[in-house]
Amino acid sequence: MLLSLQNVSIHFGALKAVDGVSLQVAEGERVAILGPNGAGKTTLFNAITGMTPATGGQVLLQGQDITRATPDARAHGGIARTFQITNLFFGLSIEENLLLATRGLAKSRWAFWRSGDAMGDERSIVDSALARCHLEAKRHLLVKEISYGEQRQLELAMSLTSSPRLLLLDEPAAGLSPAERVVMAEVIRGLPKTLSLILIEHDIDLALGLVDRVVCMYQGAVLVEGRPDEIRGNPQVQEIYLGRPRGA
Ligand SMILES: Nc1ncnc2c1ncn2[C@@H]1O[C@H](COP(=O)(O)OP(=O)(O)OP(=O)(O)O)[C@@H](O)[C@H]1O
Ligand SMILES: [Mg+2]
Repeated sequence: MLLSLQNVSIHFGALKAVDGVSLQVAEGERVAILGPNGAGKTTLFNAITGMTPATGGQVLLQGQDITRATPDARAHGGIARTFQITNLFFGLSIEENLLLATRGLAKSRWAFWRSGDAMGDERSIVDSALARCHLEAKRHLLVKEISYGEQRQLELAMSLTSSPRLLLLDEPAAGLSPAERVVMAEVIRGLPKTLSLILIEHDIDLALGLVDRVVCMYQGAVLVEGRPDEIRGNPQVQEIYLGRPRGA
């Protein structure tokens, strides 16, 4: 099992933001986490990345206990999340942003004098991330010149430069137009099959079309888990997540 959460909790004082969540993600598996605002989805991501370590339970990466590992150690172990838009350099090109992201995880972080070989590796990482995120044709444009949707594609491309094994996407389509959502969905669908994904998404139709398995969270806990076709018609999910029966 690539990722295994065992009874993971994060409590903020009396608030049980995450309350005893157990979840397994296999190599190459794609999982969506659904749930209403405040259900604990982002906090659960933080337990996985180490931004907010779990206050209870265990997080295992390929069987290794990383419950208390630093975010850096987890990133080196193959866990990546999308960068926030605020991490983009708006005055630099798409390609330059990707080069900087590639160097972020490199050991020689501050060594700007690079050998020809290292430069070649960087180029191929950047080229592959550009192609995966449908940004090849725009590589020389400045970030401030591209659309919001393309900025979100760039965030995703940047998270790929560390060659992760597990990628966490927190609402990758938030704020996108319908046309931009279609592109984002294609980009996510086209990610390498060996890469495991956990996707938080409020757009239930978008999410269900992209994953093998769905976990629905409510008040910090897992309410329902199943295949997309099982979740689609689940009355509990409709009531809790949508707040009303679908079509009503
Ligand atoms: N650092 C924190 N300190 C205190 N409470 C927090 C903290 N982070 C999150 N919370 C609370 O934990 C609960 C879960 O928040 P979380 O952000 O994980 O929800 P979410 O499911 O991601 O919601 P959304 O869909 O709105 O993004 C909320 O009640 C939130 O206010
Ligand atoms: Mg959230």
